[in-house]
Amino acid sequence: MSERNECAEGVATVAVIGAGLIGCSWAALFAASGRTVYVYDSRPDAGSAIDAFWASVKPTLIDLGLANPETRPDLRVTDSLKEAVATANLIQECIPERLEAKLQLYRSMELHTKRDAIVATSSSGFKLSDLQAGWSAPDRIIIAHPFNPPHLIPLVELYANEQTAKDVLPRATAFYESCGKVTITLEREVLAHVANRLQAALWREAIWLVAEGVASLKDIDTAVSAGPGLRWAVMGPHLLLNLGGGEGGLRAYCEQFRDSYHHWWDDLGTPKLTDATIDKLVSGLRDEINGRDYAELRRERDAKLVAVLRALKSQSSQSKASLQPQS
Ligand SMILES: NC(=O)c1ccc[n+]([C@@H]2O[C@H](COP(=O)([O-])OP(=O)(O)OC[C@H]3O[C@@H](n4cnc5c(N)ncnc54)[C@H](O)[C@@H]3O)[C@@H](O)[C@H]2O)c1
Repeated sequence: MSERNECAEGVATVAVIGAGLIGCSWAALFAASGRTVYVYDSRPDAGSAIDAFWASVKPTLIDLGLANPETRPDLRVTDSLKEAVATANLIQECIPERLEAKLQLYRSMELHTKRDAIVATSSSGFKLSDLQAGWSAPDRIIIAHPFNPPHLIPLVELYANEQTAKDVLPRATAFYESCGKVTITLEREVLAHVANRLQAALWREAIWLVAEGVASLKDIDTAVSAGPGLRWAVMGPHLLLNLGGGEGGLRAYCEQFRDSYHHWWDDLGTPKLTDATIDKLVSGLRDEINGRDYAELRRERDAKLVAVLRALKSQSSQSKASLQPQS
């Protein structure tokens, strides 16, 4: 991170299209990294939304070492799509998850976009091949899917295909990593990428457990956050289960629990989000929320995320230091 980022991947100017939940968060992170950030949104109050968002997250970004205390963000909100994209080296598209709206936006954007710009979509689940249909030259668009909130959660899932120009993926990877992100690259196209598929699998079962009255919604949430969720912040499921197998590792774990898992998988639920199920979830959640409003819950989530991120960062610096040869 530097005040004006001169970067090897050649991304000095970024455009964020759509300044909602995800766009505001991306814009703050990119500006913190020293880039010039143009923001375009079709709603008239985008400027105040961006200002308010930056003010609310700046202390956190400084705390995590993602912004300099003296950083004055170069955030330029414009009501012209053409102005937003014309000089951008990377365009982060963050409009709602509606395929036709995205394709229509791409058709309006293409004429004004630099030929070597990277166009990255935040899309939660669309396939790249469907999104490429909006471009007459589909070689610049890739998937760059964040997890909410993008200024805090490190993961970005990247996917490019055989139509993508060769420079795009390496430059995008270098760009997101320069903003403090952790990237993964999908090797083939799949609906909803990786992390949302994992989240969908877990949530499906959590909904079934609530709908079937196995435990209260609050207890089911606690079963994740006080149990496996805590472990998942430090290691992924395979590495963790490798430890669950003792010295024999993952192979021993599989051999010991193969039949159990087959039995459990056969028993997992396949609920639907019917109106009745949604009502049950919302009413169960009331108990867990216990009067806290949206802003309070967001502050609480972000403060806890920052604490975890700081602890992990400090632990990894200590491990690195202990591996240095002693003089
Ligand atoms: N919400 C999440 O948890 C999450 C997580 C990761 C990725 N995403 C993805 O990010 C994208 C944005 O989601 P969001 O939750 O921020 O949505 P959102 O509804 O909060 O924000 C979308 C913004 O886009 C603006 N907009 C709509 N049409 C536009 C257009 N044609 N041109 C410019 N601006 C336009 C809207 O005014 C709004 O401010 C989606 O593709 C979504 O799948 C969302």
